[in-house]
Amino acid sequence: MTDKHLYPVEPSVAERALLNREQYEEMYRQSIEDPDAFWGEHGKRLEWIKPYTKVKNTSFDYNNVSIKWFEDGQLNASANCLDRHLETRGDQTAIIFEGDDPSESRHVTYRELYEETCKFANVLKGLGVKKGDVVTIYMPMIVETGVAMLACARIGAIHSVVFGGFSPEALGARIANGKSRFVITADEGLRGGRTIPLKKNVDTALKNEAGANVDKVVVVSRTGNKDVPWNAGRDERYEDLMASASTDCPPEPMNAEDPLFMLYTSGSTGAPKGVLHTTGGYMVFTSMTHEYVFDYHDGDVYWCTADFGWVTGHSYILYGPLCNGAVSLLFEGVPSYPDSSRMGQIVDKHQVNILYTAPTAIRALMAEGEACMKGTTRKSLKLLGSVGEPINPEAWEWYHRVIGNSQCPIVDTWWQTETGGILISPLPGAVDLKPGSATVPFFGVLPGLVDSEGNLLEGKTDGNLVILDSWPGQMRTIYGDHDRFVQTYFSAYKGMYFTGDGARRDEDGDYWITGRVDDVLNVSGHRLGTAEVESALVAHEKVAEAAVVGFPHDIKGQGLYVYVTLMQGIEPSDELKKELVQWVRKEIGPIASPDVIQWAPGLPKTRSGKIMRRILRKIAANEHDQLGDTSTLADPSVVDDLIDSREFK
Ligand code: WT7
Repeated sequence: MTDKHLYPVEPSVAERALLNREQYEEMYRQSIEDPDAFWGEHGKRLEWIKPYTKVKNTSFDYNNVSIKWFEDGQLNASANCLDRHLETRGDQTAIIFEGDDPSESRHVTYRELYEETCKFANVLKGLGVKKGDVVTIYMPMIVETGVAMLACARIGAIHSVVFGGFSPEALGARIANGKSRFVITADEGLRGGRTIPLKKNVDTALKNEAGANVDKVVVVSRTGNKDVPWNAGRDERYEDLMASASTDCPPEPMNAEDPLFMLYTSGSTGAPKGVLHTTGGYMVFTSMTHEYVFDYHDGDVYWCTADFGWVTGHSYILYGPLCNGAVSLLFEGVPSYPDSSRMGQIVDKHQVNILYTAPTAIRALMAEGEACMKGTTRKSLKLLGSVGEPINPEAWEWYHRVIGNSQCPIVDTWWQTETGGILISPLPGAVDLKPGSATVPFFGVLPGLVDSEGNLLEGKTDGNLVILDSWPGQMRTIYGDHDRFVQTYFSAYKGMYFTGDGARRDEDGDYWITGRVDDVLNVSGHRLGTAEVESALVAHEKVAEAAVVGFPHDIKGQGLYVYVTLMQGIEPSDELKKELVQWVRKEIGPIASPDVIQWAPGLPKTRSGKIMRRILRKIAANEHDQLGDTSTLADPSVVDDLIDSREFK
C-alpha cells in the first residue's frame, strides 16, 4: 500500500469527529467482549415504552437459528422518529423535499411530519388496517411515502415497500406473497421529467392473483392527472381521507421483536424473498450507525440519494436519520435531470453537509466529465458516503477530488438488505481511508473470511465473507418461510451467517469487498437474481432455455449478459431480441433489461444437467482463454460454438 493510496484522517476531520482511533478500538473491543453490556447501554439511545431487561438472545446454530434483541422491551419506531423530538426540535426541519422539477422544494418540520403521520395512521385504522397486517407501498420519492411508512409503524402494521420502478407483474407477485390487503400508491410518479403510471400499474397488478386479497388502494395525488382509472369502493383518495382525520393517534406499544417492515430482495435461487426486520434492534442499529458512520452532528444537512424502495432508503433516509433528529433531504428525481449538474446544484441549494450515494451514480457523472460540476461550489460538504457495490478506486478518487473538492473523507459502507444497517465502514475521525476498501467493522460486528470448506482464515487473505455473531440490525427471518432463511444464510458454513460476498483482508486487517460469489448480480447497485431473470425469459413462448450472467459494465458495474436457446423452429432475429428485452422489462422492470442477448443453440452443462455459469461468465467477459476445466461438460463442443458466435469478439 503506497502513501498515494492512503488518505489519513485530516486534522480538521479529527477535530469535529465523534470518535478517534483509540476510542473506536476501545468501543469495538467492548462490543465484542461483552455484547450484552455494550448494547444494553447503547439501546438507551431510544425511547422505550417499557424498558428491556434482556439484551442479546441469539443463536447461529444451524439446527436452531434464532435472533432476538431487547426481547422484553416495548417501543414504537414512529414515536422514536417523531414524538420524542417535538419538545426539543418540533419546529426544526425533518425532511427537505426537493422535487423532480428544480423549482419545487419544501421543508417539513418534525411537528408537521408528526401530525401528517398521526392523521394517516388514523386513516389506515379507519380503513381496517390492524397491527400485524401487511401494507404494500408503491410510491414515488415524495414526503407522503415517508408518512405512509411511519404511519404503518405507528399502528404496528408491517410495511412492504415495492420500488416504483418494478413492473406490475413484479408488484403483483410481492403483494400476493405478503398476502397484503392494502396498497398505497400515487396517481403518477415524476422522474427525470417523465411520468410513471403507478396507479395504472397497481390496477394491472391487481387483475391477477394478487387482486383477490386487496381490500383498499389509497391513492396520493402527485401529478393530479384526471385520467387515472378509478375503481369505486376499492380506491380511496389520500387527500379526501386526510381532510377529516384527527392528529391524535397514540403510538401502538410494540414488542422489540414485533415486525417493523419487510422488503423483497433477490437471492441466488427462486423468487425474491421478503426480508423481515423487527423493531428494537433495527432502530438501535440504524440510528447508531447513522450517527457514527456519517459523524452526524445536530443541524447537519444530510442527503442520501437512495430510493425508499431499497433498504438504504428505509435505514438511511427515514428511520436512522429521523431517530437522530436529523435534517434528511428527500429527492424525487434523478441526478441527470434537467442536466448532469443537478447533484451539485442540490448540494449548493440546500447547503448539504453529508452526501451518501452509489458508485454507479458517480461513474455516470464521471463519464460526463468535470464540467458537470461547473457552476456549483459544493463548499458545504463535509463528508461523502458510498454504498451498494464495490467502488473502483478511480471513481473513489474522482468523487473525492471533484465532488468533494479534496476536502471530504469518503465512507465506503458495506452492508445488505439483510443486515439492516452498515456493517463495515470507516468512521471518519478514526480510520485512514483506502480507495476501494470498506476498512473496519462497526461495533458488534465480527467478520470472518472462510475457504470453501468453511475453515476460518487468518491474517492477510482472500475468502468468503461471513459474520460470526449476531448484531441488532440483522434480519430475523424470511416472511413466511423460516426454513428458507436458515438454508439461505446458515447452511453453507455452519454456525456462521454467510453474506454471499467475497472479500480480501489486507496486512492492516482492513476489508476489501470483491463482490458476490453466488448467482446474484449487482446492476447499478441493484440486486438481481440470475434465476429470477431466467425464469422471466423462459416464460416467453419462443424461449426454450436461458442462462443469465453478469459482465463488467463501465457505468452499471455489472451488466446482464443473456444466453437464449429458442424453441424448435423459431428463427433468431434482431426484432426478437428487442421483443425479449421488452418482455423482461414487463416481467420485472427496466432495471433487469438485458444488455446483451446471445443466441445459444446449446448451453454448457454438466452431465447432471447443471448449467456451468463459470464458463458463461468467461465468454461474456471475453476471457475465452481462461475457461478453466471443461472436461466435466456433457458436450464440450457447445463452448466452441458459443465463442464462435459471440458478437463483439
Ligand atoms: C450487496 C447487498 C447495502 C444497501 C444497498 C444494497 C453489495 C453493498 C457495498 C460496498 C462492495 C457492496 C454487496 C452486498 N454492496 N455495499 N460498500 N462495497 N459491495 O443492498 O441490495 O441488499 O445488496 O451489495 O455485494 O452483498 P442489497
